[in-house]
Amino acid sequence: MGDQYEVSEVGAGALTIPSLRWEEPPEGPVLVLLDQTRLPAEEVELVCTDVPALVQAIRTLAVRGAPLLGIAGAYGVALAAARGFDVEEAVEALAQARPTAVNLGYGVRRAAVAYRAAFGEDGAQAAAAAALAEARAVHAEDIEASARMAEHGLALLGELLPGGGHRILTHCNTGALVSGGEGTALAVALAAHRAGELRRLWVDETRPLLQGARLTAYEAARAGMAYTVLSDGAAGSLFAGGEVDAVLIGADRIAADGSVANKVGSYPLAVLARYHHVPFVVVAPTSTVDLETEEGADIEVEQRPGQEVTEFSLPFAQGPGAEAGTGIPVAPLGAQAYNPAFDVTPPELVTAIVTEAGVVSPVTRDGLAEVCSTSRWS
Ligand code: MRU
Repeated sequence: MGDQYEVSEVGAGALTIPSLRWEEPPEGPVLVLLDQTRLPAEEVELVCTDVPALVQAIRTLAVRGAPLLGIAGAYGVALAAARGFDVEEAVEALAQARPTAVNLGYGVRRAAVAYRAAFGEDGAQAAAAAALAEARAVHAEDIEASARMAEHGLALLGELLPGGGHRILTHCNTGALVSGGEGTALAVALAAHRAGELRRLWVDETRPLLQGARLTAYEAARAGMAYTVLSDGAAGSLFAGGEVDAVLIGADRIAADGSVANKVGSYPLAVLARYHHVPFVVVAPTSTVDLETEEGADIEVEQRPGQEVTEFSLPFAQGPGAEAGTGIPVAPLGAQAYNPAFDVTPPELVTAIVTEAGVVSPVTRDGLAEVCSTSRWS
């Protein structure tokens, strides 16, 4: 095999290593992450002993996906508190590590509020314990939300597509790798698979960082789902051929008017779905809904380095031990690149938003506000 490397064995069920966990070895607490930049080639863990390491892991997408970013952010505050770092500095750095996924700020804020309240009452040690307890609560709620979304989403699919045998197209990665549980959109597809109702999962490769080809396909294979990876540009011909029954995607931020920011390439799918009369369903916890952001145009879209487009530079593509940023050029030297990490789909193109607290359809400002108000942790 020369210097090639083995692709992780698939078909083994759940992830071998959870996407994130808190540990307390004698040297002090750590946050352990499954390094997603290495998948599917190898399951490697990243041990964060301080906040700069976690911020770096967030920026490089070693840990990623809206709900998991919320959990990681909350544990990051707990880590700073437990290790005696400057907590307010940590809060600032973590919340700003990536701008679009609202869950990151949500998780950081929850742990910070718990920390500050306990600090005023009982001092630093109690405050550290309070931050950790809150991080664990964010984590546990996400696990529960994930299960509820899968139930609501499966029921919705039954209503939208009465015959079963669904062929579902998904984009980016929305499974156990983005969640304490089984995820958002992929959790719904998984529920359909378990119910014997999934005929095929179409997996957009998701350029430029290939979250679909690398991560969703990895999860689908482990779960034994019938899946096919396609290049993002091939989706149109699938719709034209009548091969897609529904689109299921996640979200990084949903504005008060129901506009959905998600991985770049989601909006073109929504346009295709509308043209071909195919339901376009967004699955996200209410913690992804940002009622303070009025509409889609107000959502800050993260712009990432052009190098991600002009080079193949992920460590997974270069084998074990490769450093990020040492890529193989796929465009002329000096080529400019446009690399937004997300795009925004307007509410009128969204058939339904599935949350843990219920389904919003049609997607309206009032419907969204109502489902958020009935959420257990609103
Ligand atoms: O840049 P990423 O990989 O963090 O983007 C992730 C996505 O766009 C997901 O679709 C989104 O977070 C929803 S996952 C529940």
